[in-house]
Amino acid sequence: MSDEIKKGLLGIVVDETEVSKVMPEINSLTYRGYAAQDLCAKCKFEEVAYLILNGELPNKNQLKKFENQERKERKLSNTIIQDIKRFPKTAHPMDVARTAVSIMGLEDKETKDNSTEANMRKVMRIFAKMPVALAAFYRARKGKKIISPKKNLSFSENFFYMCFGKVPNKEIVKAFDVSLILYAEHSFNVSTFTARTITSSLSDIHGAITGAIASLKGPLHGGANEEVMHMMKKIKKPENAFKWINKALDNKDVVMGFGHRVYKSGDSRVPTMREYFGKVAKLKKDKKFEKIYDIVEKVMIERKNIHPNVDYPTGPTYHLMGFDTDFFTPIFVISRITGWSAHIIEQYAANKLIRPLAKYKGNQHRKVVQLNQR
Ligand code: CMC
Repeated sequence: MSDEIKKGLLGIVVDETEVSKVMPEINSLTYRGYAAQDLCAKCKFEEVAYLILNGELPNKNQLKKFENQERKERKLSNTIIQDIKRFPKTAHPMDVARTAVSIMGLEDKETKDNSTEANMRKVMRIFAKMPVALAAFYRARKGKKIISPKKNLSFSENFFYMCFGKVPNKEIVKAFDVSLILYAEHSFNVSTFTARTITSSLSDIHGAITGAIASLKGPLHGGANEEVMHMMKKIKKPENAFKWINKALDNKDVVMGFGHRVYKSGDSRVPTMREYFGKVAKLKKDKKFEKIYDIVEKVMIERKNIHPNVDYPTGPTYHLMGFDTDFFTPIFVISRITGWSAHIIEQYAANKLIRPLAKYKGNQHRKVVQLNQR
């Protein structure tokens, strides 16, 4: 047995997957064999959610059935609605997401059933209810009336409607849909690996997704999209950007929204999201953050050869859409539930307990001295 330590499991292949493939050498990402960019161009989010969960793109009938199921499952229990109203208004919405899925696990009659069929039904419930729970908190913490979901609205339209009481124009909804498609799945990232690790002890899907949400919250993972916006707000205006980013690099600060464990010469999701960020900025007639974006990116590449990751364009895009900054990572959650769930189901299907080793470097055999002699 080798004693070599691979901190952060750097470069270690721990299992196989059919869900997605990250190809940094050709700057590409495929879900079930389809390029994410191609899916963004030709599909809506629900089609991609179906693909990730079922392995194939749906035909019209399959999509209709899937959409009907999702819309039917949107309603929250009275308990969850009352709990959301009681949650501290200062709570981070990621903690609300984590708690909400945990409560869903208490309520779900199939929590103990880990068969693929039961898991698919549970996934649909979590997938449909999570945006509703988050939107309810979005309004409750502002003292606004909670808006019930509408069955005639798509997944994205309904989320806007429940948060803001109206659906924006088609281009904005498409940009949001694209962000959800790009966030849906990304192989063995830390939150997905967390979900698979929890699953590997044969625990349940609600627990695995609860753990995945906690993992996604961190600023080195999904939390980066919020940090990007905090950074852009600190920079304030394009004229400050060059000086600000150079100073940050002189101070050896970690710049959020840049760098990636797998992609070292650019994140394959960025060009598509950058394009939609530009479209949203144009529609909103607000180019300030786009200008800041370009300056910071240029300096990061010139000075450090570090490229933006997908959280860099999504942050300011969600800001321009009107979302509160602490809701950016929860939006990531409502999409990534699909990827996590596909991995959880894959893990159950060919499970092996995930149990790595550690090289011990603490004290060696010591004798216990009785309390009265210590
Ligand atoms: N700003 C400044 N320097 C950086 C950055 C950055 N964002 N990212 C990497 N570096 C430097 C790092 O300091 C190190 O330099 P040195 O070799 O001189 O010590 C070198 O690049 C290698 O970085 P690393 O931390 O060893 O690389 P990693 O693969 O362990 O980390 C990362 C990847 C994503 C944790 C890191 O790039 C980072 O902290 N980025 C900022 C947070 C972020 O944007 N996270 C989102 C990740 S992608 C989407 C998602 O999961 O949500």
